[in-house]
Amino acid sequence: MRRILLLLLVSCSFLSAQWKSIGNVDSVSVEGNSVLLISGTSQVLIQVLAEDVVRVRLAPSGSFREHTTPAVVNTMSPAQPPKVTQAEGLVEIRTGKGMVVAKKNPLRLQFLENDGTVINEDDPSKGMAWDGPEIRIWKIMPFEEQYFGFGEKAGRLNKKWTHMTMWNSDIPAYRADTDPLYESIPFFYAIRDGRTHGIFFDNSYRSSFDMGKASGHLYSFGAAGGELNYYFFFGPTPGSVLKRFTELIGTMPLPPMWSLGYQQCRWSYYPESRVREIADNFRKRSIPADVLYLDIHYMDGYRIFTWDNERFPDPRKLIHDLGVQGFKVAVILDPGIKEDPDYHAYQSGLSGDHFLKNPDGTVYIGNVWPGPCAFPDFSSAAARTWWGDQLKLLSDIGIRGWWNDMNEPAVFNEPAKTVPLEVLHHDEGRLTPHEKNHNLYGMRMTQATYEGVRKLLPDERPFVLTRASFAGGQRYSAAWTGDNIASWEHLQMSVPMCLNLSISGQPFVGPDIGGFFGNPSGELFARWLQLGVFMPLMRGHSVIDATNKEPWEYGKEFERINRQTIELRYRLLPHIYNQMWIAAETGIPPLRPLIFQYPGDPEIAAREASVQNAAMEFMFGEDILVAPVLWQGDKTRSLRLPDGVWYDYWSGIRYEGNQNVTVPAPLDRIPFFVKAGGVIPTQPVMQYFAEKAVDPLTFTIYPAERSIKTYYEDDGVSFGYQEGQFRRKTIRQDMTGAIQSLVFSEAEGSYEPAARSMIVRLVAPQAEGKIVGRASAVMVGSEKLPRVQPSRAEAAVRGWWVDEVSGTTNVKLPDLKEEIRIVVEYAK
Ligand code: GLC
Repeated sequence: MRRILLLLLVSCSFLSAQWKSIGNVDSVSVEGNSVLLISGTSQVLIQVLAEDVVRVRLAPSGSFREHTTPAVVNTMSPAQPPKVTQAEGLVEIRTGKGMVVAKKNPLRLQFLENDGTVINEDDPSKGMAWDGPEIRIWKIMPFEEQYFGFGEKAGRLNKKWTHMTMWNSDIPAYRADTDPLYESIPFFYAIRDGRTHGIFFDNSYRSSFDMGKASGHLYSFGAAGGELNYYFFFGPTPGSVLKRFTELIGTMPLPPMWSLGYQQCRWSYYPESRVREIADNFRKRSIPADVLYLDIHYMDGYRIFTWDNERFPDPRKLIHDLGVQGFKVAVILDPGIKEDPDYHAYQSGLSGDHFLKNPDGTVYIGNVWPGPCAFPDFSSAAARTWWGDQLKLLSDIGIRGWWNDMNEPAVFNEPAKTVPLEVLHHDEGRLTPHEKNHNLYGMRMTQATYEGVRKLLPDERPFVLTRASFAGGQRYSAAWTGDNIASWEHLQMSVPMCLNLSISGQPFVGPDIGGFFGNPSGELFARWLQLGVFMPLMRGHSVIDATNKEPWEYGKEFERINRQTIELRYRLLPHIYNQMWIAAETGIPPLRPLIFQYPGDPEIAAREASVQNAAMEFMFGEDILVAPVLWQGDKTRSLRLPDGVWYDYWSGIRYEGNQNVTVPAPLDRIPFFVKAGGVIPTQPVMQYFAEKAVDPLTFTIYPAERSIKTYYEDDGVSFGYQEGQFRRKTIRQDMTGAIQSLVFSEAEGSYEPAARSMIVRLVAPQAEGKIVGRASAVMVGSEKLPRVQPSRAEAAVRGWWVDEVSGTTNVKLPDLKEEIRIVVEYAK
């Protein structure tokens, strides 16, 4: 009933509200890259930021707001000023990659390609409008257009026909149709006939996106306050939109490599002996893991920055001992500071004036785990510094992971489950209400945490994990998708949810593996863990009252399977790290929906647009296509391969793309495919990051006529890479007839790994399901490489051999900084 009412409300919103649309243009002025359109007392400013990026702002009463949100941190200016021409009733702004046409009577915008095709346009009747502090824009929704992104949203990948709200909310055990959730990223892609553009609505107030739910031919977005202020990205590909978006909001910094290992959490591991038991179990059972978490029970009465002395009598020693075993320890940090005059953080927060305040100037108090709490005002630089300084108590004793939770912020005793709208935030001196700052609270908390840790441990990359965030939050933190459920449906839901979050600028994402609430079967846990191999964040977690969910808790056979799964993650770490480096450099994340990579493929577009069929295959980087098993009992996996040539990772079988295939998916394996030309770097299994040197470093090369890839590495922990301490090689592969040649370029950068071997695994060329050639000679530079017996391969320093069954040629060499050229001849 409530939903029907809500629907009615939404669909009547234009009718019932007193919306006033922008009217006719009275005058136009052009200055540099900006065009100002004046309509009565209102103004619209169109700024060309780049040949393919335009910013649009509306000031209903004629004055633009001096500040929007902390999302955008970088400026852009076009190489060429836009060409602005005025004709009867319109203004044309040529940006280089496209055109904005402002119709004057009334003022409505159109975005066009240079050939005149309209790609986006304001609704002629409503366009940009306001009603008191509320602002909204209506645009025409072409029938074929589909919408992706929107940050953290459950449900299917394509968000067409849905209504979404951006209001960070703590919703335990959410469902596919629950909205809003923990994070807000008001950014989306519109894809039509293989052409993509994007929009970022830079507004932190409660906002909403109605993608055709209220009206079948219009979509709209707007907010309860703030400025109608959006960035338009011309595209034409999802990648080009995301690159521009992340140029504005910044990319994720390179995470420490250990945070890409397996992480184990639960609410809560305590006392100390239980934490040690968990650590011992990982090592005793040879199941790799890098991070153990302490949830809220480590603290004294849930007071942040304290320890429960009975449960954890000597945390420094515990963390040290776990460190010797190769574990990093992460602790939960909730923002609520217990209102307790005898508690140091409450005292110093109060005396430093670092807490949120009621309009009457008293400190705002709300209930969370410790009972009544004050809330740090992370919108003040001084409060952020204060918070960061408190972390010293934890960093000094060895804590290296910073889990920011409950930062929507969640408040148990408020009717709206969060801080009331009128509570005041410092907002860098502006003193603005919670209404404006709510969606930014989580991100600013991660900023305070990240910057605090940077200062305390200047030589180490911080690892911060958050539940709530906003556009730009990736600059400080990884994100997980909150309190999910141990069900097959939630396993399925985690795929589109993480994909949309990933392509919204937040690459470091993952769900609670195994499901937070409830008890998964061994099969469900195993399948979830397998999906976790291809989630940038691979973390198992569980609610307080569920059964144990560690990888060994499901019997011997599942323990073997789960070990093998986590070993696969560790083998693939060089590849995963490489993909995270690409995300840090370019904004393009490892985790991508197929439509992101293949927007022009009509079959993919149809599948991923489908309302029933959420995207269930995805890319991990440009070369790996993952087809996770997400259904109980399934032992095979069917999927459609996109264009190109693909190799089944497990069987090595070659498939032509553009066809449906079914591959085996026994319980111990997650199906995935590597694209022809792909180069996948791997390392030997290790129990944790840097347990031993990466030796050998293996490159598996999937044959293609030609491909060029980059391999990047560094020490994985420090900021030395920013001073050139990295190692980067270009790997070029050519296949002409029976000759395959490879060039590993001379390494760039000053990072030098310890001496090691390199193994190049060349997947055998195949045709019609058969291996068509076996290597008959291998040259390295001008030297003929000796052939060795496979049984002697491990001891050999230099040599080549062929796997009898797969036909793969293996070339083993010392890994050098210098260029390495390898030529392989195949005999029929
Ligand atoms: C919240 C978090 C969950 C955590 C729990 C206790 O529900 O989402 O991950 O375990 O609080 O701290």
